[in-house]
Amino acid sequence: MSNTVKQSPAVIVRHLRRQYGKRAIIDDLDLQIESGEFVALLGESGCGKTTLVRVLAGLDEVDGGSIDSTGEIAVVFQEHRLMPWLSLEANVALGMNEKTGRLLAHNALGEVGLAGRENDWPRNLSGGQAQRVALARALVREPKLLLLDEPFAALDALTRIKMHVLVKDLVARHQPGVLLVTHDVDEAISLADRILVMRNGHLAASYFVAAETEHGRASLLRENLLQELSVDIYTNESRT
Ligand SMILES: Nc1ncnc2c1ncn2[C@@H]1O[C@H](COP(=O)(O)OP(=O)(O)OP(=O)(O)O)[C@@H](O)[C@H]1O
Ligand SMILES: [Mg+2]
Repeated sequence: MSNTVKQSPAVIVRHLRRQYGKRAIIDDLDLQIESGEFVALLGESGCGKTTLVRVLAGLDEVDGGSIDSTGEIAVVFQEHRLMPWLSLEANVALGMNEKTGRLLAHNALGEVGLAGRENDWPRNLSGGQAQRVALARALVREPKLLLLDEPFAALDALTRIKMHVLVKDLVARHQPGVLLVTHDVDEAISLADRILVMRNGHLAASYFVAAETEHGRASLLRENLLQELSVDIYTNESRT
């Protein structure tokens, strides 16, 4: 029985619809993410990725369809959204029972490499450190589904690579289903098990990364994804 629960998908979305006025931003969207599965979501700017994240997180309304998840859903945005008047520990433990919250926050801060900074303040953190606290805050509740909306976009290249390693490690340890929104095709390929492309309000393409990158074909996948995003990689080069 417990096995069944463990194996249940992180989220099942059917015929999802969200519209602003008469405009459908999400239109008949189906999505299933398994526990422990890392899914990256690509799509042109304005195609509805953040709207999808907000709807899945319960931060926005649904106009049709269903979202089924058997556990907690946590979200990390591009901005860390920490409370400036709360210590790092209190930020991570926000809304939890004081005693357990403190212990769990201590452990979570340790996991993201910020042990000993419990009583420090958000204003004293670099961008990368603040995102690590945001990750700790998301993971401390052991979410079944972790939503990451361009969490590395504002970071410098080196910090971003370090965050990739950290996120991969944390996800392997905690095993949430992950939906990572990114504009970075290479980031998607290096982190995800599956890559989805959103277009016209629904998921227009899906690639299993391992199958696509075997036999050294990662560059072909990269090319296909760039084409999906309407980026012509030959624009400044000869096609011959
Ligand atoms: N609260 C709102 N009211 C009306 N329109 C909205 C609202 N939120 C988003 N939109 C519109 O919905 C569309 C999708 O926005 P969304 O932020 O989901 O795109 P996105 O794919 O995340 O883009 P980006 O890659 O630039 O972050 C846009 O046209 C946007 O203007
Ligand atoms: Mg967005």
